[in-house]
Amino acid sequence: MRKFQVLFLLVSILSSSFAFSKPDPIKYRKSVYQIMGWHFGIMAAMAKGKKGYDRDVFMRSAAILRFVSNLPLEGFPVGSEKGNTKAKPEIWLDMKDFEEKMLQMQQEVSVLEEIANIGDLRKAKKQIGKVGRSCKSCHDKYKTK
Ligand code: HEC
Repeated sequence: MRKFQVLFLLVSILSSSFAFSKPDPIKYRKSVYQIMGWHFGIMAAMAKGKKGYDRDVFMRSAAILRFVSNLPLEGFPVGSEKGNTKAKPEIWLDMKDFEEKMLQMQQEVSVLEEIANIGDLRKAKKQIGKVGRSCKSCHDKYKTK
């Protein structure tokens, strides 16, 4: 009897702690992209001279962007094409091409991290352009405006 009571208590604690935030792939991917956009924005502003160059801040943003760039893909499971989203249904018709674009962006982002760690702002500027184009190439094809 006691065992069942403990089990019941555990199950109710677990289910109530999940109840307030149901995992939602659309919110997940948007949040991930928000973080990416945030850190890309910091580096782009420094590259354009709109913000003073701070090597440590730049390095930190590059590291965060590199890590987070691995996350968006799992935010696009089958069935998440409907809802409050700008993702085009074409993604799920050619997931292989979408994955390739994601991979290309991840590669450009990891090169940016390497350059950031060396602290070469001139090279970083060029690489920021490449990263930006890799974001845009996917947005142009798979995201509505
Ligand atoms: C392989 C495709 C792909 C790549 C690469 C990509 N994005 Fe996106 N991005 C999307 C899609 C699709 C959406 C729309 C998500 C939605 O509304 O569900 C999006 C949305 C966004 C948003 C808006 C999020 C919101 O709150 O609605 C931002 C910001 C963003 N991306 C930034 C970036 C940045 C910065 C990069 C490059 C470093 C990038 N993305 C690379 C596909 C991509």
